[in-house]
Amino acid sequence: MSHEHSHFHASLEAHDDIAINPSANPPLAELINPARRNVLKGGLSLAALGFFAGGISACSKAGASPLLGFQGVPVQIDPQFDRVLVAEGYRAVPFFSWGDPVEAGAPAWNPDASDDWQAQLKQAGDNHDGMDFFAFPGETERGLLVMNHEYVNPPLHPSGQIDQTKPRPLAEVRKEQAAHGVSVIEVKKGADGHWQRVMDSPYNRRISMLTAMRIAGPLAGLDVMKTVSDPSGLEVFGTLNNCATGVTPWGTFLTCEENWHNYFINRDKQDYEARVSHKRYGLAKEGTSKNYAWETADPRFDATPYADQAHGGHVNEPHRFGWVVEIDPFDPKAQPIKRTAFGRIGRECAALSLGADGRMAFYSGDDAKGEYVYKFVPAGRFDASQPQANRDLLDQGTLYVARFDADGSGQWLALVHGQNGLTVDNGFADQAEVLLNARAAADRAGATPMDRPEWAAVHPKTREVYVALTNNDGRGAKQPTDKANPRPQNLHGQVLRFNEQNADPTATAFTWELFLLAGENRGAKGQDGQPVPVNLTGTINGDLFSSPDGLAFDAAGRLWIQTDYDDSEAPMQAMGCNQLLCADPATREVRRFLVGPRGCEVTGLAWSPDGKAMWANIQHPGISFPASDGKTRPRSTTLLITKLDGGVIGS
Ligand code: FEO
Ligand code: CA
Ligand code: CA
Repeated sequence: MSHEHSHFHASLEAHDDIAINPSANPPLAELINPARRNVLKGGLSLAALGFFAGGISACSKAGASPLLGFQGVPVQIDPQFDRVLVAEGYRAVPFFSWGDPVEAGAPAWNPDASDDWQAQLKQAGDNHDGMDFFAFPGETERGLLVMNHEYVNPPLHPSGQIDQTKPRPLAEVRKEQAAHGVSVIEVKKGADGHWQRVMDSPYNRRISMLTAMRIAGPLAGLDVMKTVSDPSGLEVFGTLNNCATGVTPWGTFLTCEENWHNYFINRDKQDYEARVSHKRYGLAKEGTSKNYAWETADPRFDATPYADQAHGGHVNEPHRFGWVVEIDPFDPKAQPIKRTAFGRIGRECAALSLGADGRMAFYSGDDAKGEYVYKFVPAGRFDASQPQANRDLLDQGTLYVARFDADGSGQWLALVHGQNGLTVDNGFADQAEVLLNARAAADRAGATPMDRPEWAAVHPKTREVYVALTNNDGRGAKQPTDKANPRPQNLHGQVLRFNEQNADPTATAFTWELFLLAGENRGAKGQDGQPVPVNLTGTINGDLFSSPDGLAFDAAGRLWIQTDYDDSEAPMQAMGCNQLLCADPATREVRRFLVGPRGCEVTGLAWSPDGKAMWANIQHPGISFPASDGKTRPRSTTLLITKLDGGVIGS
């Protein structure tokens, strides 16, 4: 998510872009050239950046890339745009919205949002995000669609408000907690050829902030994981701020906890400063109100180390978030499992790369300004003939963080106690502390601070890895520019790609390059007739966009790109509403496939096994989508997208 899109939640969005990385890792050799710096010094005020209006309404035509078989759609700059525009020859319809019934006994959504939290526990959560499709074994026309519900917006409540300035009513907090998490819904292709939900499926399931889950891996049961309500350190209620996802080769869903830090507060200033596991993640501190103030109704979210433990004892609760959570969608009774071997970060995703020999890697971004790109390499190998042995493959392995060198090479730095400076002398008592404070470990190891790493995607054939670096307006000030993050005050972001040595997911060396820089192209003129400043010019071959976020490959190797920017703010205003685009990795051509309603983020992508149905999420639409009547409260919604001629999406 971005931090500032619609009026509904401007103050409530998780602040995923606040730089709290204090490390002084050396910049890559290449600094931005002095001429560029001068442009910036000339006084870039965001308010003054009224460019683009005339420049980017065009869209590209079908034909140049063999992979991209559709005609692009134009940007939508109408401030009242309240629907979805998809490429000609396609159909996009609302499929699954916040409040829709999921579990047995769930009521239908009430337009006045008056459902209580018990109802919300059985209904679709809010802010649909990352999503995957799991076919039933041996079937192609029936499966489970599993998606994240990242956070909540004020329309969740009948008043349309969340008042953080007063103690929160517990019932409101519970409803918000119930609206977080994950939905599992069964879908099948109907007799009419259209995909539909199976409303009475036993697989339909909600997982929320109130669902008990197991803690597994190296930190399970350790003191740092114990709280007054879980003296075992083995069980935790809920998962939070579930952003993007991953899929394992053994058919489980990985949900990733991103901006969990915004839900906790530590009011003890002295303790806060000294406690790396709070401070390095940017928990709220006394006087800040960036969270939902859950701690005013539910003491679990007050992580202050009060002397009187009867009134506290939750100082370790924030240690129980920031993980990859494994969910078996085919076993509705199975507890979700937090896999601590992955390390604790602001986890964006866990994108799988599977080698021919069963060895694998899971790639993750940590989405905040100047944070890092990680991969986790399980110690074992996937073996399809040993389903039981695969069950706990995620509990042992090596966490790495990336260093992108200026010559186009790169290194994976192992976050292993005793290596890369991760020693007792440097403040890391043992491997548990390395994993708990993975950000600090990555600082010490010398990782490259990046422009807010969002999703990673792995090419289905070559295993080339793509990472969306969404933007970083602090680049140049807090972190010097470098080759991988070349633009100061980077409002538009970039997509970077890399190849592991010998295409081996477990390699420790790789080569990388920038796939594209988003933003207006060089030489373009703004509204004022002046050239667009060089720090905002991009290298897109095709349709323009800003702030790449969601990334996913389809089976044919098309790279789909989803955007997340504040569409009300210059210069993004002229990019129009957020978008879903498609790129050809070979030609780098980019074409705009879909535009979402005003105020939304476009995120989450899944396909049917034949590639002829695609689901995409419209997160936090701003006006009244999907009713699109100008008055019904807006609802995050999954779209079902099909081609009118029944063909493969994008072909
Ligand atoms: Fe939840 Fe960084 O997006
Ligand atoms: Ca984002
Ligand atoms: Ca995102």
